[in-house]
Amino acid sequence: MTTRRAVLERLAVLSGTVGLAGCSRLLDPSAGEGVRGLAANPHADSLPETQFGQTDALRTDGDGNDIQPQYRRVLLLSLDAEPSNDAARTVERAMRTLEAAFEWAPDGLFHALAWGTDYFERIDAIEKSPIERPTVLSRTDDPDLQSYDAALVLSSDTASNLTRVENAMFGSSERLGDASVEHRLGAVFSVAGRRTGFMGAGLPREHADVEGVPADALSADDPMFTGFFSGRKRTQASEQRVRIDGGTFDGGTTMHLSHLTEDLDRWWTDFDAADRVTHMFSPDVTPEDVESFGTDVPFADAAREHAQEHGVVGHHEKVARARKDGEPLVLRRDFNTVDGGQAGVHFLSLQRDIADFRRTRRAMNGWYLRDENSQVTDRKNNGLLEFITVQSRANFYVPPRKGRAFPLL
Ligand code: HEM
Repeated sequence: MTTRRAVLERLAVLSGTVGLAGCSRLLDPSAGEGVRGLAANPHADSLPETQFGQTDALRTDGDGNDIQPQYRRVLLLSLDAEPSNDAARTVERAMRTLEAAFEWAPDGLFHALAWGTDYFERIDAIEKSPIERPTVLSRTDDPDLQSYDAALVLSSDTASNLTRVENAMFGSSERLGDASVEHRLGAVFSVAGRRTGFMGAGLPREHADVEGVPADALSADDPMFTGFFSGRKRTQASEQRVRIDGGTFDGGTTMHLSHLTEDLDRWWTDFDAADRVTHMFSPDVTPEDVESFGTDVPFADAAREHAQEHGVVGHHEKVARARKDGEPLVLRRDFNTVDGGQAGVHFLSLQRDIADFRRTRRAMNGWYLRDENSQVTDRKNNGLLEFITVQSRANFYVPPRKGRAFPLL
């Protein structure tokens, strides 16, 4: 018997031969529990409705700040299959395999499937999507402006879980934890790029045998190559703040991913602890103050005055000016990397609107400050800008869990 859905799918496949724009009118995304005719996700009740909900599952440090997972991997994906209901079911089943195999917890696995600008252009829906292609955002950088179909974002405290997921989803492993692997993302996507990294005390020192950071500079406590912790609760947007509320994209968010390389020789050899604190926070903050920070970084909103008086401004005092109603706009899930043999950061941030990222990055540029004092330039005496170079940028949409397979199709 030919069902209505089979007819729709057949039409959708045919429409692929004459242009993908037709798909969105022909497919029936409302079938079943939002996932193209599949039975409801058996794991859904025990998982956050967003793909980025981690706060409730994370442990906290002595101050009450979230301890983020230590190991990260982002697989940048190219579509090999035409967007279709069949492909969507394969993707959804593959993602359910990850949910069957691991707890949604730091010692298990956090995962999200995000969709990029290439995908939305491919289905002729970029204008309707919540993202746009990345742009150059500073005068000092000439990044590779990238566009992908999708990205699989993985994190865990168990580094081997990330490799096991990659082998199961894009290789031939038949088992993943307790789950058997019958559906793979590799049936639909190929891996076009990989971003790997880590976050947490001591990990930068273990990886310091690369360009960009003096090997003996780091201590066993340092969570980042610059020596600072960057995850105080009130310097982060909440998950609620970055969640898109209502409309087609309800429960989703946007994701920016840039690769910053770091050149920290001068940071560690010419600067003392006070200079580093000045450049990271502000000239009116001392290393002792930083020791006493708990869940917040006090913020005087005096970058202009600091430029005038001290000829130098800090990273935090500039970016904190982008807050709205006292809360930052972006939820930073960035991580350290040694990809390419160079110390750096994969700056992964979530925000309700990509414009929130641009606003924050412009605040970080601090172009207005060189009018206050000629010692402050686009790079010099201007927070971290002397020490970082933006290599690439890409934008993604992170759908809610139930809509993670081929959004807008
Ligand atoms: C190598 C690159 C970077 C390093 C090492 C770094 C480091 C830090 C540190 C240590 C803090 C203080 C947070 C805390 O104590 O909890 C901070 C805050 C922050 N950073 Fe960065 N950052 C980097 C790049 C960026 C970029 C590219 C952006 C966005 C354009 C950004 C946006 C922010 C924001 C929004 C805050 C919080 C501001 C607030 O409290 O309102 N950072 N960063």
